[in-house]
Amino acid sequence: MYDLGVKMKIAFIIGTRPEIIKMSPLIDEVQQRDINYVLIHTGQHYDHEMSQQFFMELELEKPHYNIGVGSGAHGEQTSMMISRIEDVILKEQPDLVLVEGDTNAVLAGALVAAKLHIPVGHVEAGLRSYDKTMPEEINRMVADVCTHLFFVPTLTAATNLLFEGVNPKNIFVTGNTVVDACQRNLKIARKHSDLVMDVDPERKVLTLTLHRAENVDHPKKLGQIVNALLELEDLTIIFPVHPRTTKNLQEFGLYEKLQKAPHINIIKPMGYLEFLLLLSRSQLVVTDSGGIQEEAITLNVPCITLRYNTERPETVEAGGNILVGTSQERIVGSVRNILGDEDLYRSMKGAPNPYGDGTASIKILDIISEIESNDGLKIEPPDFITGVTTTKLVRVDENVNVSEFEEKYSAIVKMAFNDGEVVFPESELNLKDKMVLISGTEL
Ligand code: UD1
Ligand code: UDP
Repeated sequence: MYDLGVKMKIAFIIGTRPEIIKMSPLIDEVQQRDINYVLIHTGQHYDHEMSQQFFMELELEKPHYNIGVGSGAHGEQTSMMISRIEDVILKEQPDLVLVEGDTNAVLAGALVAAKLHIPVGHVEAGLRSYDKTMPEEINRMVADVCTHLFFVPTLTAATNLLFEGVNPKNIFVTGNTVVDACQRNLKIARKHSDLVMDVDPERKVLTLTLHRAENVDHPKKLGQIVNALLELEDLTIIFPVHPRTTKNLQEFGLYEKLQKAPHINIIKPMGYLEFLLLLSRSQLVVTDSGGIQEEAITLNVPCITLRYNTERPETVEAGGNILVGTSQERIVGSVRNILGDEDLYRSMKGAPNPYGDGTASIKILDIISEIESNDGLKIEPPDFITGVTTTKLVRVDENVNVSEFEEKYSAIVKMAFNDGEVVFPESELNLKDKMVLISGTEL
């Protein structure tokens, strides 16, 4: 037990633009609840437009530590993060380390904390693209091996984790904090309607963002995307460019081509408020960003994703997002198709948001507080012989729910199947006539 009067301390690890944005509602919530926290910035993003401006807009306190790793190759950047985060964690001794998403900070932070036996809470856990050429996929998977509390946005993400053998008791379906951030900040942004640049009201606005290594590090793919944009002359394209993309467009001789096109507005990365306003007023968004796929469906803006797979399949299944890859023909064809077909446009706009109702941060903090009050934030080696765990697939004939079944048979229900479909085994789920995958030492 914690000593009376000693409050839990949470360490937040962030490093890039989307982590600052998606962690901000959690940091607000921690402050409101008067929980101790320490904010550690890895310094992976360091330009004013990629980091500091979000602290200012979101009224976040300056990080307690900025370990200033800067840019570099994956091994160099991640190893520096590991070593410096370890120093800070050893000094600060938090009770819980929270990481968000799939950047190098998530991998480094989760690994350090797990090895120090400090529980890791992974916000936005369980996402999978099943494409291991993406650095983000490796980060997500390794982080989830180190994670203790899995805060997943959707049941799809929960199911991904079940298939990897994660104990469902540690999985919490909370929605995504991106909705919390989006709803809160769009309200603020709307009060400043002068934020967005003037655009010709006669023309449709397409917002574009692009930064994935698998797209912008390849001259051929980037060239095809640029050609598609040049072809879409009848639209106004607003393109706040990520620094990685600026560098590569310049290096591949493509930057000038875009700059010369009168229908394309190439601008610096935008502040969050201005970007949300722009997005909410756009007819269409074309992106390879993860967060923007989520924000588009939250703001009812049809989305075209310049990727061949997505770890956000819910947006595609809901009908708000279409994957087109990077071919010029497919990009142009999809834009024309969506903007030219009223029924399709309306159905994409009306796609239901799978990421929750804007209360993810409250749910996450409620769960953490409850676990902490039950002394559950401790990772200790067992001091008893654990026995040998067996896993079995069985059919349940009794009228019992998951909790009752687990108590009766001293087993954990890891997965339940209803007519071949996976069902998340919540405690109240009735198991009668379901197949269940159970695991225990006394089976
Ligand atoms: C990183 C994340 C990616 C996330 C993205 C959010 C990893 C492996 N990648 O990608 O998952 O979607 O952030 O935007 O963690 N640069 C600057 N100024 C900056 C930051 C970067 O000029 O403040 C330039 C540098 O040339 C750098 C390049 O951008 O080499 C790439 O930056 P890096 O942090 O390695 O990856 P991102 O593409 O930003
Ligand atoms: N964003 C922003 N200004 C911009 C572009 C994006 O504030 O010019 C925000 C956007 O609203 C979203 C986040 O940055 O919340 C997405 O970050 P990014 O696309 O860099 O990373 P990803 O989500 O793909 O990891």
